[in-house]
Amino acid sequence: MDSILVTGNGPVNGEIPITGAKNACLTLMPATLLSDEPLTLTNAPRLSDIKTMTALLGSLGAEVQPLQGGKVLAMSSHNVESQRAEYDIVRKMRASILVLGPLLARFGYAEVSLPGGCAIGARPVDLHLKAFEAMGAELELKDGYVFARAPKGLRGGRVEFPFVSVGATENALMAATLAKGTTQLINAAREPEIVDLAQALRKMGAQIDGEGTDTITIQGVDRLGGATHQVVADRIEMGTYMLAPAIAGGSVELTNCSVDLIGAFIDKLAAAGVEVTPTENGVRVTRTADRVRAVDVITEPYPGFPTDLQAQFMAMMCTADGTSVLEEKIFENRFMHAPELLRMGAQIEVHGGTARVTGVPQLKGAPVMATDLRASVSLILAGLAAKGETLVNRVYHLDRGYEHVEEKLGAIGAKIERVTGS
Ligand code: EPZ
Repeated sequence: MDSILVTGNGPVNGEIPITGAKNACLTLMPATLLSDEPLTLTNAPRLSDIKTMTALLGSLGAEVQPLQGGKVLAMSSHNVESQRAEYDIVRKMRASILVLGPLLARFGYAEVSLPGGCAIGARPVDLHLKAFEAMGAELELKDGYVFARAPKGLRGGRVEFPFVSVGATENALMAATLAKGTTQLINAAREPEIVDLAQALRKMGAQIDGEGTDTITIQGVDRLGGATHQVVADRIEMGTYMLAPAIAGGSVELTNCSVDLIGAFIDKLAAAGVEVTPTENGVRVTRTADRVRAVDVITEPYPGFPTDLQAQFMAMMCTADGTSVLEEKIFENRFMHAPELLRMGAQIEVHGGTARVTGVPQLKGAPVMATDLRASVSLILAGLAAKGETLVNRVYHLDRGYEHVEEKLGAIGAKIERVTGS
């Protein structure tokens, strides 16, 4: 298993290009199942999760042809002959559940393995299933699989989510595009990835209104055509790299992205005393102050503070002047980076979904363990500011969501290298 070795090397300066959003791509790819015409994605990120989704779609008979080194995905579901998503693929990536809605809508049938929990929580899919039932599907759970049937096709329905779910909103939105009649998604997720999906579906011929608000209305159509769609910039990769100069000092411009994608996060960075300046093609982040100020954070659905940036923000709070309180309201177990940061000399007390972080002037490098995608990158960020070497193990987590992390951070002056393990 590979590791990443980071050596604290002072302020960082330079430019990082941001790639297409993993979490947009992972819902745009299953959307190809809705049509027998080609769907082509540009600005696709080169990540292991994308390879996993490619394998899953391939197992159903869909074709995904990576072009330009994987930045373009030319997809076709003309020859889909299976509607069964096997456990051995689904267990690797929870987003696999996003093939259920499109398969059910296009073929009237789907067998998809339940994803099972993961490191950050149980992460059930009950909201996805309730949405399909509201659209007339018959569901049966057997041997760890969901068997979904809609022999006469899905019909439009009213889907009221008891709380916001990104995946359930995406699954229901895709299914509703081919349902007979009108579907309303109430208390829908508002993330930019949902807006991106709706824009791609509209290019395919879907009739959708209200994406980006908490109520999305879809008028079903008989069939969808093909399209070409550019994947929206990855706001989580953007927020992650904005924290590099915030933690290590210096000034970095992030390009191919927009500040509009992460409003609440930017407000918190500014409150911490970090300078955030929109630029023509992205954003510049500069930290001149000796230390950042402690800031409290509560994670919320978009447009609130993103849960996917909580671990990275905590790494910054470990060196802040003062005590900050971070509340994780989306997942029940998303502080696994805390024990690893403690090994680096951080002062953190975790009680349930709340972490109290008292900043220290200097972290110390140490061998640490990555546990999930965002926790692993928070340890790398902490290593930028730590004295000495930090060896982050199990970086396969990292490769799921960050394209060429060592190149991107190396380009701004970080001392970072991949150590190929046994
Ligand atoms: C998406 O996961 C993202 N993944 C996650 O990013 C992100 O953290 C999350 O949204 C929240 O923004 C992808 O888009 C592939 P949810 P998702 O449904 O859709 C509970 C990363 O690091 N819930 O909004 O699975 C659930 O357990 C990943 O890139 C149910 O109880 O998240 C969680 O506590 C991590 N029943 C909360 O709702 C359901 O049917 C929010 O989950 C669905 C969800």
